[in-house]
Amino acid sequence: MSEPATWGVRRTLLDLTDKLHLARPVVRAYELALAAKSSLRPNGAEAADGLPLPPARLRAQIGPLHAEAAFFLRSGESQADLVRDLLREDGTSIEELDAILDFGCGCGRVLRHWARLDGTHVHGCDIDARMIGWCAANLPFAEVAVNELSPPLPYGDASFDLLYALSVFTHLSEDLQHAWIDESRRVLRADGYLLISTLGEYYVSRKRLTESERAAFARGELVVLYERSAGTSLCSAYHPPEYVREQLARGLDLVAFRAAAAEGGQDVHLFRKPR
Ligand SMILES: C[S@@+](CC[C@H](N)C(=O)[O-])C[C@H]1O[C@@H](n2cnc3c(N)ncnc32)[C@H](O)[C@@H]1O
Repeated sequence: MSEPATWGVRRTLLDLTDKLHLARPVVRAYELALAAKSSLRPNGAEAADGLPLPPARLRAQIGPLHAEAAFFLRSGESQADLVRDLLREDGTSIEELDAILDFGCGCGRVLRHWARLDGTHVHGCDIDARMIGWCAANLPFAEVAVNELSPPLPYGDASFDLLYALSVFTHLSEDLQHAWIDESRRVLRADGYLLISTLGEYYVSRKRLTESERAAFARGELVVLYERSAGTSLCSAYHPPEYVREQLARGLDLVAFRAAAAEGGQDVHLFRKPR
């Protein structure tokens, strides 16, 4: 079956189970099945950084592809490289920053790649206490905290030079997204960077959405599926880039935009908080 056809079947199944309030257990069962499958195979992936690998059930929860250990490590490294590259292109480097926050850090897929930063305070937070428990026990260079689905964060005003949220706004309702952009601005210093990733044209063109949802996206509207499951992988938001720039991040200066080019990648928007 081609990918769009597979998506059609998945979508129908999710729509049906969601009506019965069963979609979340179905998604969780799918993630656990992927984790079990991956645990049966010798994963062959050694973490070159010497840090432990999170268990497959946590990896599968942040995205089905991450059940495979090698993909988890590879994709985390390439996202950390992307953060470094985008900052470098703007004339700075992550080493020059005093404090950074990985908002919605999950089990540290990207966070782990900052282990060797010497002069930078590295923080991570997430709503999932099991993810944060794993990070606290295994990524000792980072200070991690659990936060609630809605703001506030447990940090003072102007605490960070960079806040990044990779594949987090993709799982929030529209109201929560706006509330979290406001909260991100609060904890960022003047001139601080905000980086968020979103699902855009690359995924919409793969027919994950219905015709009317695709039409709304084409009109520049945000499309959010299964909104009442905000904060979980079931809830998925599709952002036209112009919606991010003109509505969600209004008042922030756009520094860079990279459109997703491959499965697993997302559109990445880098903003700066004006002085
Ligand atoms: C798809 S995972 C991505 C994890 C990590 N950012 C990465 O790229 O590997 C989404 C993460 O966002 C977290 N999350 C969802 N809503 C959140 C919120 N309001 N505040 C903090 N974390 C949240 C979830 O618990 C989950 O760990």
